[in-house]
Amino acid sequence: MTILAFETSCDETSVAVVRDGRVLSSLVSSQIKLHAEYGGVVPELAAREHLRNLMPVARAALEEADVFAGSLDAIAATQGPGLPNALLLGLKAAQATAFALRKPFLGIHHHEAHLYSPWIAGEPPLADFASFQPNVSLVVSGGHTLLVHVKSEREYAVLGSTIDDAAGECFDKTAKLMGLAYPGGPEIDRLAARGNAKKYDFPRPMLRDASDDFSFSGLKTSVRYFLRDHAEALENQQTICDLCASVQAAIVEVLVGKTIRAAKRVGVECVTASGGVTCNSALRTALEQACASENFTLRLANRNLCTDNAAMIGILAEQKLLHGAPATSLDAEIMPGWALG
Ligand code: KG4
Ligand code: ZN
Repeated sequence: MTILAFETSCDETSVAVVRDGRVLSSLVSSQIKLHAEYGGVVPELAAREHLRNLMPVARAALEEADVFAGSLDAIAATQGPGLPNALLLGLKAAQATAFALRKPFLGIHHHEAHLYSPWIAGEPPLADFASFQPNVSLVVSGGHTLLVHVKSEREYAVLGSTIDDAAGECFDKTAKLMGLAYPGGPEIDRLAARGNAKKYDFPRPMLRDASDDFSFSGLKTSVRYFLRDHAEALENQQTICDLCASVQAAIVEVLVGKTIRAAKRVGVECVTASGGVTCNSALRTALEQACASENFTLRLANRNLCTDNAAMIGILAEQKLLHGAPATSLDAEIMPGWALG
């Protein structure tokens, strides 16, 4: 089965071609430079950029995969959640393509696709789906921070989510306070490598809270107050590195601590993680260490599949079709607030 997939839920215009669990092409046109000037994603600019890039990226994805549009079996797109106008462009492009080619269309849940991304690996790739185990999955990015109990391949229960900022947002906003470039997550990751994570003791919000929910706005505020009271801190490069390492350590400790606690309570043997923040070196190492010491199997999404991409949309669409999921109507609307489960 050959599927063309579109992902435009935020600021990446991505199109992929997948066939039989294999990613034939997965192109991402990133808008990072465009939004950097504003220190965050500007929804209207994101939509205009999707409009400009969608067709060239789709054409390039088909060319790279060496697939003719006429030989596609289905078209898929992210239906939600995400930025409304951004979603609208990808969804309508996919529905129009499906209409023109008289092929089925599938609307995909963005977070459900993230849950699949740790399994897109190996050779042959489908071998990984065969080893799919019930798991507790951390989906952590600039827009979402979710802990999900994946009971079977298509049965999910959301255990917790953020009550304010997402973890990626916390990285980005604290980086902005420190005058670092957007997006701040990768910058903090890079500078933290030269810093002392024990230098500053920032709060670990809701780490001991009974719920599986997260909160990151308090951590951002405490960095703001620290910088207000220590204006000289940003004049010293080593201090900036120490601040980055300390902030990163606080975020990572909360994410890992709550994930492992939930996995133990729910009684799974496997932990997975995906989403842009899963690129973070300290998070990957801390999850590896915690899972090794607690005897959990860990599945981390490959770094190139952590951030938003259409490959995960196509792979999930194919799995759904193989399991008899009905096609989505060509008149289906975007679902910007679509909840998982
Ligand atoms: O999944 P994603 O591409 O988009 C959504 O937000 O849905 O994730 C982007 C987020 C940004 O907040 C970015 O700062 C963060 O992922 N990120 C990182 C790293 N790479 C990306 N955060 C920490 N460390 C990184 N290495
Ligand atoms: Zn995402």
